[in-house]
Amino acid sequence: MNQAAVVCKDLEKSFRLSKKQQKIEKTPDRVKRAVRGLSFEAYPGEIFGLLGSNGAGKTTTLRMIATLIKPDGGSVEILGKDAVAFPDFARSNLGFLTSELKLEDYFTPNYLYRYFSELHGLDENADRKRMLFEKFGIDKFAEVRVADLSTGMKQKLSLVISLVHDPAVIVFDEPTNGLDVITAKAVTDYLGELKNEGKAIIISTHIFSLAEKLCDRIGIIVDGRMAALSDKQTLVGDRSLEDVFFDIYSMAAPAET
Ligand SMILES: Nc1ncnc2c1ncn2[C@@H]1O[C@H](COP(=O)(O)OP(=O)(O)OP(=O)(O)O)[C@@H](O)[C@H]1O
Ligand SMILES: [Mg+2]
Repeated sequence: MNQAAVVCKDLEKSFRLSKKQQKIEKTPDRVKRAVRGLSFEAYPGEIFGLLGSNGAGKTTTLRMIATLIKPDGGSVEILGKDAVAFPDFARSNLGFLTSELKLEDYFTPNYLYRYFSELHGLDENADRKRMLFEKFGIDKFAEVRVADLSTGMKQKLSLVISLVHDPAVIVFDEPTNGLDVITAKAVTDYLGELKNEGKAIIISTHIFSLAEKLCDRIGIIVDGRMAALSDKQTLVGDRSLEDVFFDIYSMAAPAET
């Protein structure tokens, strides 16, 4: 295999819990250990999937990779450089996508594309913009304000503007969250194209069928720990990913705090 584009080593992240949150979670602990010693790598030309149930630590892990939060321990390397020491390098080589990204209502796709290009210190690449806008049907809405776009169109626009700088590493939290089947297919087809172009793609999901269809390698996170990590074929064999997941989930040791 070629050199890893992303290397996560022994990642740790804890959050302080408010008194109210302690009550909700029925725990005497003041600290939630969201990610506990997570290690994995992602290679150019593959889609790596982090699979885990709600609260497993997927988003926290992806946010550390995308330099949005700092790890308490361990390290992330993007294209061979430490992401904490060289955050600008990491950000210029990485696109972070999430269905949570909120776009300013007032602006149009044309404006936002130019704005995000400039944010990355790039001149707007008209050919790339045309290609991306056409691919996702944004071209017909290029001068429509975000407020007047459909939810799916907003999602597709946020995907496009997260990738204006054509990054080598793409990190996508829950790629199909909230999308209808048509839009979801457009997004997952495009992830397949990016993979074929040689991008290293990391997605998180709790949807087995998505992981099964899209991912080359899968890491299963249980309670912030990597409970299994393998290429899909070895992990699943002749079973379903869902069955494998339940086995791993029930075998994973109960978390100590
Ligand atoms: N800023 C924060 N403050 C306190 N606790 C947090 C914070 N962010 C995440 N957590 C907690 O850390 C744990 C992991 O959260 P995370 O969002 O990474 O899970 P996830 O695997 O993405 O779950 P989901 O599938 O629901 O998106 C959860 O218990 C969550 O409540
Ligand atoms: Mg999440």
